[in-house]
Amino acid sequence: MDSSELYQEAVATFRALLDEATRAGEPEPTAMTLATADASGRISARVVLLKNVDEAGFCFYTNYHSAKAAQLAARRQAALCLLWKTLRDGVQVRIEGEIEKVDAIDSDAYFASRARLSQIGAWASLQSQTLPARGDLDARVAEFERKFAGGPVPRPPHWGGYRLRPAMPDIWYGQRARLHDRMRYDLADGAWSKRLLYP
Ligand SMILES: Cc1cc2nc3c(=O)[nH]c(=O)nc-3n(C[C@H](O)[C@H](O)[C@H](O)COP(=O)(O)O)c2cc1C
Repeated sequence: MDSSELYQEAVATFRALLDEATRAGEPEPTAMTLATADASGRISARVVLLKNVDEAGFCFYTNYHSAKAAQLAARRQAALCLLWKTLRDGVQVRIEGEIEKVDAIDSDAYFASRARLSQIGAWASLQSQTLPARGDLDARVAEFERKFAGGPVPRPPHWGGYRLRPAMPDIWYGQRARLHDRMRYDLADGAWSKRLLYP
């Protein structure tokens, strides 16, 4: 197996596990913790939803003026962590790598597929900024509903996707009554390798 086939195997394994977790009734199978760091090395983590995964990477959508976006502008390194508790005896996937912005065309296409209220919300939310009173958000929602009444809601320029290009997928399989299995894929000097790790 050549090195790129190892990466294809990791992505295919991830997709198969995500399908299996969805079928197993995992309540939020695409929810993943995203960790980022600022220029000083201070780390933040929060949950975002995985919207697309293929060999180019793992995509999520957010506000480009948010705190996470400021951190990603300062440092492109990020980490994702998913837990599928209902799958088998628990599966954790950890992915580390570099982040890039999703093309505007792809962000437009995903934005157009969202429910109208979510589209309005993307305009109304000043994500990560101080909200003086809840009514201020409601007022902004009403303002953008008026602004876009009777027509489509365009994608805000400050809203779109990021793609994490993995350099390290690590898949941990829970095993009842015995030690867990942990499979680690690493990219180093342009070549992928695979090994087991102690759990
Ligand atoms: C289940 C769940 C899913 C979420 N999905 C997203 C998402 O896809 N994109 C997003 O920007 N925020 C999402 N959030 C909100 C983030 O966790 C976070 O509050 C927000 O992005 C602001 O983070 P920041 O201030 O670090 O930028 C989600 C929260 C939860 C609990």
